[in-house]
Amino acid sequence: MPKVVVANDHGAVELTARIVSFLKSEGFEVNYLGTAENKSVDYPDMAKLACDEFNKGGYEFGVLCCGTGIGISISANKIRGIRCALPQNIFAATMAKEHNDANFIAFGGRIDYQDDVLDMVKAYISTQVSQDERHARRRAKMMALEG
Ligand code: RB5
Repeated sequence: MPKVVVANDHGAVELTARIVSFLKSEGFEVNYLGTAENKSVDYPDMAKLACDEFNKGGYEFGVLCCGTGIGISISANKIRGIRCALPQNIFAATMAKEHNDANFIAFGGRIDYQDDVLDMVKAYISTQVSQDERHARRRAKMMALEG
């Protein structure tokens, strides 16, 4: 069963619960790291928890949520090997996989999206990474920026 790691802060408890149950219904094994409570936690801590777990290996991808998705995605992108996308709609979720090979996707629990977040997740998981040379080259250049 493909594995996914998921974490969030207090700004996205309900949204993350929806995503977790959706991923399970799609046949993923979900390692949910919390927080399932509305008590305040710091999004960089939750990003680190999930990204460190992902970097141990064995995961297809990860999902991170906070109030806007911004703080937790910026935090994730500071961690080696992580390409965390913050898609704003189904098109961006599709491109995040096809062009960027994002290994994390982030969402905001307080954002009013034009598309349902679950449809964005579905678009991401059902899209293949483009093997086109120009996209592969850009991905390699992107990762080389880590230094
Ligand atoms: C927490 O209140 C909030 O700042 C956080 O969830 C997120 O929106 C930050 O980017």
